Amino acid sequence: MNLNLLNLYNKKVFFIVSLLITSIQLSAQKVTIPIASENHMILLQTDHLNRLRTIYFGKPIQNQSELEAVGATTNYDENNSGIYNSAYTPAGTWNLSEPAIQVKHADGNPSLELKYSSHKKEQIDANTSLTSIVLKDPVYPFEVTLCYKVWSKENLIEQWTEIRHKEKKAVLLQKFASANLYFSNKDFYLTSFQGEYLKEMQPIETKLEQGIRTIDSKLGTRAMLLQTPNFIVSFGKPASENQGTVLLGQLAWSGNFKLDFEIDSHKNLRLITGINPYASEYALVPNETFKTPSLIYTLSTNGTGEASRNLQNWARKYRVLDGEGERLTLLNNWEATYFDFDENKISGLFKGAKDIGVDLFLLDDGWFGNKYPRNNDDAGLGDWQENKKKLPHGLGYLVKEAKKEGVKFGIWIEPEMVNPRSELYEKHQDWVIRQPERPEIYYRNQLVLDLSNPEVQDFVFGIVDNLFVKNPELAFIKWDCNAVIYNAYSAYLNKKGLPQSNLYVDYIKGLYKVLERIRAKYPKVPMMLCSGGGGRGEYEFLKYFTEFWPSDDTEPLERIFMQWNYSYFFPSITTDNHVTDWGKQPLKFRVDVASMGKLGFDIVTNHLSEKDRQFCKQAISNYHSFKDIVWHGDQYRLVNPYENDIASLMYVNKDKTRAVVFNYLVNNRFNLTATKRPVVFNGLDSNKKYVVKEINLYPEIESTLKSVVYSGDFLMKAGYNPDVNLKRTSVVLEVTELK
Ligand code: DGJ
Repeated sequence: MNLNLLNLYNKKVFFIVSLLITSIQLSAQKVTIPIASENHMILLQTDHLNRLRTIYFGKPIQNQSELEAVGATTNYDENNSGIYNSAYTPAGTWNLSEPAIQVKHADGNPSLELKYSSHKKEQIDANTSLTSIVLKDPVYPFEVTLCYKVWSKENLIEQWTEIRHKEKKAVLLQKFASANLYFSNKDFYLTSFQGEYLKEMQPIETKLEQGIRTIDSKLGTRAMLLQTPNFIVSFGKPASENQGTVLLGQLAWSGNFKLDFEIDSHKNLRLITGINPYASEYALVPNETFKTPSLIYTLSTNGTGEASRNLQNWARKYRVLDGEGERLTLLNNWEATYFDFDENKISGLFKGAKDIGVDLFLLDDGWFGNKYPRNNDDAGLGDWQENKKKLPHGLGYLVKEAKKEGVKFGIWIEPEMVNPRSELYEKHQDWVIRQPERPEIYYRNQLVLDLSNPEVQDFVFGIVDNLFVKNPELAFIKWDCNAVIYNAYSAYLNKKGLPQSNLYVDYIKGLYKVLERIRAKYPKVPMMLCSGGGGRGEYEFLKYFTEFWPSDDTEPLERIFMQWNYSYFFPSITTDNHVTDWGKQPLKFRVDVASMGKLGFDIVTNHLSEKDRQFCKQAISNYHSFKDIVWHGDQYRLVNPYENDIASLMYVNKDKTRAVVFNYLVNNRFNLTATKRPVVFNGLDSNKKYVVKEINLYPEIESTLKSVVYSGDFLMKAGYNPDVNLKRTSVVLEVTELK
């Protein structure tokens, strides 16, 4: 064959092959998978190479027959770094942007391709469904299942991924995201929440520009101390309370997390979230499933208010332990005594608890340790026996004494930790996370126990179990965690020949195992999650805990802002607010602020003046009358303290017959205009008539407001002026239907 003929022949072959490929591509049936709730739809679709892509995210498209066509409405070229809208982006093959998953196969090969294999949808009940989509590597026996659990009415999606393989040896998971979402829109605004000790959960809103904005934690245990896994994405314009499309989300994982918000070269948003892969290459053995934590998210086209109510309703009904149940008001002794107490001092406080009308007394840190008494934070952690000097008759005696006074009794523990000055450390250095060859590094004079070790899991379970076995009437646990993980190294993993990089993940999985066991044996005892303030609190922990401690900062003005921020993601029943001596505001202000959640006190009641005591009693009795609305009702953030001189928050019960409105002055400057404007209510029934009355008045102070009757329509349009001013810095209104 001469050269010309050969060229012609080659061209013909090329032409025929291309025709063949094109016709296969055209005939390949596209699979379109809708994941839909009442007001929200994600559409996933396979492409010509059978890769799964996200083609739509927004309001539900009604006509089923039109779903497939949605994919053709966008026109993104793929010449840059692969495809951006992959539903779960693999690394090592065609993708050159941030991956969702990166692995090293048993043979050392670092490439991964994922093709659609099958999917199914199970209808769990009328409101809940689970869609699972299996993607497989065409070369290696390696697969992932993308799982989407949808609560239709609450417009809430819980998304996670299950990874498994049948290779000959362990596969190293180098990155293993929970979710990989894609949003096509013009302009994205991200609000993330971060801070530090005493300044937790501060919002920062930024416009996202091309590139990656990462929110992450590498702290191990007290993971949320500096950054949190909570976020708001607002589409087109900054987030607002009652308008606009927003996505509220949280990665429900109690350890290191990573949230990557990437604006790609089409100016669209890729969101990849999961366990932080930092120092966490995970060895997955054949035939075991690695289940990632869940990304929990809700989309609203009516602003952050509706999105929060969706999330709060879902959390109470489906997620938080006893979320629709009751909670105990309490008196805590931490700020009243710190470590300086004994049996008499503590039992002397029970009367005060009863007198002001709370349900429970909570004994905080300092009750344990004998060889190394816990008289300070530098000794005793790990030795969970009552200190014989302080409590000669043991905890059982205090439980009984409290009962005699008519209050329940609860106890503080910090079971994951150890002081080097402790018998536990002397006996079990091998249980402690520490680098054997390096100097120890302490955080609050303590170290973290190695919960990847099943013996340590038994020990931690035993702490709680012993307390309940010995004191069956114990009514409450405060579970603290004050240290981060330095010198991450596990003697246990070393002994077992497992990689050290499993530690961060296995620690948290070990902790969940302990909590499972506790809840199997003690299903309902209320437990507060605390982490030296607000270092912990997300929806995986809240499967086991009834509530959490948002911050050691109890200064009431700061607290208004902090509680406002937490409320984007959590129902008030989960946030513990204590009245303390922090701040310059009057007692009334402090009690009113703490009443917007689960109310507690951390004061010496004997030091209260007669009027203060009278006020507390009245306010707690009022709280008992409206707590059901705060705990189980719908919350409306009416006036934003970041933008105004006052803050207003409202809670409405489900049948719209009762509400309570909290109003505070947040700026002390003279003659503030904002206080002259009415507060426009929300969530009422326009056709009902309501009596509006001020409550929680300090003794002998008369309200400047008359009790009035207005229609819901009036209150939600014209509004009502609570007359907040420099003399009335905190005003609580009770709104009751007039029958
Ligand atoms: C930190 C917590 O946040 C406090 O409330 C208190 O329990 C101390 N730990 C006790 O050590």
